[in-house]
Amino acid sequence: MRLLKAAVAAVALAMGTSAFADTIDIKFSHVVAENTPKGQMALKFKELAEERLPGMVNVSVYPNSQLFNDDKVLEAMLLGDVQLAAPSLSKFEKYTPQYLVFDLPFLFKDMAAVDRFQKSKEGRDLLNAMESKGLIGLGYLHNGMKQLSANDPLRTPADAKGKKFRIQESNVLAAQFEAVGGTPLKKPFSEVFTLMQTKAIDGSENPWSNIYSKKFHEVQSHITESNHGVLDYLVVTSAEFWNGLDSDVRSELTAALDEAVAYGNEIAAKQAESDRQAIIDSGRSQVLQLTDAERQQWVDAMKPVWAKFEHEIGKELIEAALAANQ
Ligand code: SIN
Repeated sequence: MRLLKAAVAAVALAMGTSAFADTIDIKFSHVVAENTPKGQMALKFKELAEERLPGMVNVSVYPNSQLFNDDKVLEAMLLGDVQLAAPSLSKFEKYTPQYLVFDLPFLFKDMAAVDRFQKSKEGRDLLNAMESKGLIGLGYLHNGMKQLSANDPLRTPADAKGKKFRIQESNVLAAQFEAVGGTPLKKPFSEVFTLMQTKAIDGSENPWSNIYSKKFHEVQSHITESNHGVLDYLVVTSAEFWNGLDSDVRSELTAALDEAVAYGNEIAAKQAESDRQAIIDSGRSQVLQLTDAERQQWVDAMKPVWAKFEHEIGKELIEAALAANQ
């Protein structure tokens, strides 16, 4: 351990942080609440990393967009202002089109399929899709399947026509809402509640834990249990920071991260269920179930989006993702 500490000090020196610095500061910025799978995973990572590398790393977690919104965090990371983040996979389009595969509507039948794809060779290779842009994917973290919400019941695609939907920074998600006659608006997560409350948007799509933790169900009268897509995360860092670490430090941080991600994934599955129930019990928003015929209408309307993005994403990648459904 003493050797490791000396090595860390040497790295800190080499990075020019401070002549006597022996603590590596890791800022972990995210946009959701602490009582979510990502919020809990980030805190677990802090606990484990500081336990594994006592006095050598100092992890500061900034939830709720306190430090950066997701539209700024990757630029900040490349500038060295933040070392870890876990934006939704829908927010990397500027850096690679490949993660758009996760946004294709009705591609994954459930979270087990998403998990299988992420663990497949193709899924693991994707972690390195942005290395030439200076970003490294350290792992995937689950949130869950997305549900549609609005101020009117959304039973069929015709109900979405003419409505404004907040979306994340993804052209696939834009095409998905255009396919049902809606108007997509790309807006930061931190603005969603106010946009809903002031009726600047009519609806949105979110997993249960984001709806509940941000109280979206209090400002949307209806939620359709559509499970039409997935919202998962990429834990990401900058190549400059990560490759600049001593290899022993890097392996301790990797172990802490793997354990924290496993912990977050376990929470994600349970929380999706308990937050869904809490929303129903609150009586603030009506949760709608689709009949098979209604659901099929959404599939028929949205699935043509796949063909539009097949060239950009890659046919083989889409096929690999589909194969995870079996
Ligand atoms: C998140 O879960 O990190 C936010 C996703 C969103 O922007 O909708």
